[in-house]
Amino acid sequence: MELIILLLAAYLLGSIPSALWLGKLFYKTDVRQHGSGNLGATNTFRVLGKRAGLTVTILDILKGTIAVLLLLLPFFENVDVHPLIPGVLAVVGHMYPVFASFKGGKAVATSGGVLLGYDWPVFVLVLVTFLIVLKLTKMVSLSSMVVSIVGFSYSIIYYFRTGDVYLLIMVGLLGSFIFYRHRTNIARIKAGTEPKVKWL
Ligand code: G3P
Repeated sequence: MELIILLLAAYLLGSIPSALWLGKLFYKTDVRQHGSGNLGATNTFRVLGKRAGLTVTILDILKGTIAVLLLLLPFFENVDVHPLIPGVLAVVGHMYPVFASFKGGKAVATSGGVLLGYDWPVFVLVLVTFLIVLKLTKMVSLSSMVVSIVGFSYSIIYYFRTGDVYLLIMVGLLGSFIFYRHRTNIARIKAGTEPKVKWL
């Protein structure tokens, strides 16, 4: 029973559409009607500006981190499940949120939060890589896909060092989500029409 509550809590946590609620509450704007229409941090930066974008980035990262750390609660102490599993459920909630008609974000920030909660050095690695690729290409989508490959490569090394196959499987899964959710971005990158950020 506790396992079902844990997985449900992780999904509901990930389902919190921070971009939508923050936009509606403080800016009277539905970010789904503007920019790329995506319920994520990038589109919030684009539509509502830096302060709102940064807030959504932090909130979306926290959803993944908290989901991984839920197992530390005394209520879940007897639950025998790998912490990355509730993390992945939070990412599923972020992509398909029950609170926003199952149309959510593209898995990037919340996946980062999962890594932060599980193994912070890999989070630092992907964050630094993300910022470097973003500085060079000015494309958040491309940077997001590059870091999912970097994260997966790191998890292969991690597997050979520690024998922990979970990180490898889960990072592979999160990376697949990221590529799948960026299908339209991939088409735009190929066509040379993907928007570039101006603030970096
Ligand atoms: O994290 C999402 C980002 O990689 C792309 O978002 O709004 O440009 O489609 P967007």
